[in-house]
Amino acid sequence: MEAASGYLSGAEISRRVGRSRAAVWQWIEELRRDGYTIEASPRRGYRLVARPDRLYPWEVQRHLRTERIGRRIVYQERVDSTNDWVRALAKEGAPEGLVAVAEEQLKGRGRRGRTWSSPFAKGVWSTTLLRPAIPPQAAPTMALAAALAVARAVEEVTGLAAAVKWPNDVLVGEKKVAGILVEMDAELDQVRSLAVGIGLNANLEPDDFPPEARSHATSLLLALGRPVDRAALLGALLNHLERVYLRVLEGGLGAVLDDLRKRAAWLGFEVQVTDGQRAWEGVARDIAPDGALLVETAGGRLERVYAADVSVRAAR
Ligand code: BTN
Repeated sequence: MEAASGYLSGAEISRRVGRSRAAVWQWIEELRRDGYTIEASPRRGYRLVARPDRLYPWEVQRHLRTERIGRRIVYQERVDSTNDWVRALAKEGAPEGLVAVAEEQLKGRGRRGRTWSSPFAKGVWSTTLLRPAIPPQAAPTMALAAALAVARAVEEVTGLAAAVKWPNDVLVGEKKVAGILVEMDAELDQVRSLAVGIGLNANLEPDDFPPEARSHATSLLLALGRPVDRAALLGALLNHLERVYLRVLEGGLGAVLDDLRKRAAWLGFEVQVTDGQRAWEGVARDIAPDGALLVETAGGRLERVYAADVSVRAAR
């Protein structure tokens, strides 16, 4: 679009978009209000100098190589929760691949009724609508698929090694950098929709975390020592999500299990498993193709764990 100098004259823009010079001027003003820095020179025209640090759909879509996911992105500066937003849109018949993004969530939700702190323009708070033709029991495999996609995206954009902590946390340097909340609407034998909510701590500083999270949570900024481009990060995340999702749809979790195992933060570790009422200990041995965590009990039995909190106690 831009000339080699970076400048494009008002007349040229007006010709290319088929709108009047006055409309172009108004459009430039609107972009400036949205945070774009645009230089205007009387003789040479306009030049884009800097983009704002915002997750505007068009900024994210510049980075997309997907066919389904993120072709439609809905955006608001502030919402209660992108998961709630997507679930409401899903009920109205929104198509697979729709993504909701917000700069800030006022009621961000985590797993097991926890809150998820989502400060303004610091993270990547998004929810993707999927409609896989799978039974409800297979839904947890999609949460693991999403965790794998997040780990791959973090690695691609930052070069940092990212691990997956079952069932759906992503760690950098042993601290949680992302969490995933998958919510399902289903009939007895068939999933109607999945709201795949991903909270990725991109540019949070120490004070942005609630005090109780500081010991075990981190951000890419803290791990890298410099901020990351959030729009590029979300673009990479959606690219990886689509790839992993399509592979898992076709071949089940088995199709990506090797990569998941390689990145598993807990294999061979002594873990504590908390599933509502009960807390018990064992050694995490493997992940099964149906998404279960296989934990060896003190008596040597392999237990299949489907939904629980797992914390690592010691290496074995
Ligand atoms: C967890 O680790 O407990 C899961 C956290 C999930 C947070 C994300 S942020 C985007 C989406 N909207 C929400 O309200 N929650 C998820």
